[in-house]
Amino acid sequence: MSSENITPSSSNTATLTHRPRRLRRTATLRRMVQETTLTVDDLIYPMFVMEGEGQKIEIASMPGCYRFTLDLLLSEIAEVYQLGVGAIALFPVIPENLKDDTGSESYNPSGLVQRTVKAIKQAVPDIVIITDVALDPFTSHGHDGIVDDKGVILNDPTVEVLVKMAVSQAEAGADMVAPSDMMDGRVGAIRRALDETGFIDVRILAYSAKYASAYYGPFRDALDSAPKFGDKKTYQMDAANAREAIKEVALDIEEGADIVMVKPALAYLDIICQVKKHTNLPVAAYNVSGEYAMIKAAAQNGWIDEKKVILETLLSMKRAGADLILTYFAKEVALMLVK
Ligand code: PBG
Repeated sequence: MSSENITPSSSNTATLTHRPRRLRRTATLRRMVQETTLTVDDLIYPMFVMEGEGQKIEIASMPGCYRFTLDLLLSEIAEVYQLGVGAIALFPVIPENLKDDTGSESYNPSGLVQRTVKAIKQAVPDIVIITDVALDPFTSHGHDGIVDDKGVILNDPTVEVLVKMAVSQAEAGADMVAPSDMMDGRVGAIRRALDETGFIDVRILAYSAKYASAYYGPFRDALDSAPKFGDKKTYQMDAANAREAIKEVALDIEEGADIVMVKPALAYLDIICQVKKHTNLPVAAYNVSGEYAMIKAAAQNGWIDEKKVILETLLSMKRAGADLILTYFAKEVALMLVK
């Protein structure tokens, strides 16, 4: 018997020219007309590294996500690479005693990020290592930039530090640097500095349209990097703005970005869609910590089907136009997709 059970129309059925349901009748037909697919190649895994040995600590607001010491991070990276995840985005947990007002630990050649990048290159040479360029994990006040005595975040002095940070990450072996700070002109300054120091092939993944979002809460718990005063609204974008996102994207492209990013993703699918129409560069979306936490919390309560909701959520980002998705679900999704 055919899997499709065609019902003959009765003589009094009105003739419809279009019956969209025809193409939904069987699983095979649905596969044939499926417009968007999610594959493991789309995924970038953000990971947290901390000092020490033999430890992984689960982040309370991000169940299933850990801060790893370097040794355990390396085995986790080897495992996810085996599963097909091609890239990781690295975030360091910096001990309080190494934080200062200007984030100078960020360009220490033997700092945690630099040591970690070197070790990953040795252990899993083919995985793409993306390092974050922003001061917040390194500053005593938790802001992404240098702050004056009135609490103003200073743009150009911050860019000078970001440039040093990016070059030191490239020296350590980073394949791609990702400025997430939202200072003006940083992409161009980083591009020039990388070129002048011989790193012409180190790519820039620009956090171009990064919004001042409440969805970053769990990430700041993970790094102990919540700002000690004020908020990030003088550098990150206003959630109400869309045209401004295109302006930011256009500037980053002009300044030399290789990939542009929208962050967060879920509440900003319209922005992803508009950015995609604006550029032929690859577009990335960041499925941020708060988006992860919401799904985990609902799933732990038994209120949603976790796997289906994860796949539907990430697929919506692809459908909106994302070519790449940074997501804490990367390992889980890779496991689902290999099955
Ligand atoms: C810091 C940075 C943040 C995130 C990535 N890089 C937090 C912030 O801007 O305060 C958030 C990621 C997430 O929430 O998953 N420059």
